[in-house]
Amino acid sequence: MMDVTPYSCKTKAELAREYEKELAHFEACKAKKLKLNMARGKPATAQLDLVSGLLTVLADPKDCYDGAIDARNYGELAGLPCARAYWADMLACRPEEVFVGGCSSLSLMYDVIARAYSHGLLHSPRPWCREEKVKFLCPSPGYDRHFTITASFGFELVPVAMTPEGPDMDQVESLVKDPSVKGIWCVPKYSNPDGFLYSDETVRRFAKLTPAAPDFTIMWDNAYCVHEFEGEYVPFLDLIALCREAGRPDMVIEFASTSKITFAGGGMSCIAASTDNIDYLMKLFSVQMISYDKVNQLRHVRYLKDKAHTIALMKRQAEIVRPKFHVVFDSLEREIDPLGFSHWNRPTGGYFISFYTLPGTAKRALALCKEAGVTMTGAGAAFPYGIDPEDSNIRIAPSLPPVKELEEAMEVFCTCVKLAALEKMLDPS
Ligand SMILES: Cc1ncc(COP(=O)(O)O)c(C=O)c1O
Repeated sequence: MMDVTPYSCKTKAELAREYEKELAHFEACKAKKLKLNMARGKPATAQLDLVSGLLTVLADPKDCYDGAIDARNYGELAGLPCARAYWADMLACRPEEVFVGGCSSLSLMYDVIARAYSHGLLHSPRPWCREEKVKFLCPSPGYDRHFTITASFGFELVPVAMTPEGPDMDQVESLVKDPSVKGIWCVPKYSNPDGFLYSDETVRRFAKLTPAAPDFTIMWDNAYCVHEFEGEYVPFLDLIALCREAGRPDMVIEFASTSKITFAGGGMSCIAASTDNIDYLMKLFSVQMISYDKVNQLRHVRYLKDKAHTIALMKRQAEIVRPKFHVVFDSLEREIDPLGFSHWNRPTGGYFISFYTLPGTAKRALALCKEAGVTMTGAGAAFPYGIDPEDSNIRIAPSLPPVKELEEAMEVFCTCVKLAALEKMLDPS
């Protein structure tokens, strides 16, 4: 029978005994010479196989037309009309508010920030490279690659607390009074890594922001817009329309892709924004390229059809993803929860679980995992500059390994988290 007394209720001698027990378990895990990976949110092979009809959907040259437009030729920088209509359906905005890109939304985000830096955005008084200081708000924990983009241009990353309702809007409303604050990173649905859904109130408060910087931009990364693995599709508000109604139509630029619907890094990405923003960005992008890969856009639209069909497909993806999340939830609930030193959110969509262990022990726990052959996202990765002030947050990405490997990996993970916590409790110095 497992001892489920919280660590805080144990005497030092009892903790020491627990430590010896977990250490023996850790050594046994190590002896298995495992090589397991829960580091990044990659779809599993079974998920990719599920959508591999995409490879043959355009079988004949006659299939390569969107109306009179030949997808194989140059042109239509904003994307094929059918692809713009697809994303407008997906994101509940208008086709003219959509720019369809290549295979990565992250690269579109990078391009927008790079253009802001080199040329400025629609309402910029000057390019951001000519600003004395540029600050960017980073709800934390958040997506490490967002933070890295803005850090790479030398912007100051300003952490904002995350809540189950989204970023702390009191903090956001106060910080945007500073004219050097030029934008914020947001993942409004199944936030990476916590899996939180921004509440309607949070979204409405975003639309009503009155930032000091005229070119303040909400980078609205809707990467997980249809990515429920449990329950029914959850609709979300169209921030583009809300900003328009609130009199700041150009304050938001939204992004999405099919990276976790079809092929990761081989899907179809888009920007959605006001038509003025789209026109402005197109002018800048037209210097860089003639047009994106419209054959890929066309085969995606032919394969995915529309939002209703995509959601039906995501239900099938969910059948593969859900058991893996359950392995993690069950392990944490069984092995860690009763011990009383940690907490986590139980998301119903997205790709991650954000686990908060005993403060001051996340790095140590992950070093132990590595020693035992389990690779995780680095501790602190979800915070600006890779520094978690509490050294507590660990991002778990369960999608890639098969269930059996995941069970093994979670056994190692739970042991390492306990060991690191026990070390700290026995020697808090
Ligand atoms: C929040 C978020 N945005 C963007 C991406 C990457 O998207 P893409 O493959 O379209 O560049 C990821 C991948 O994990 C993500 O978690």
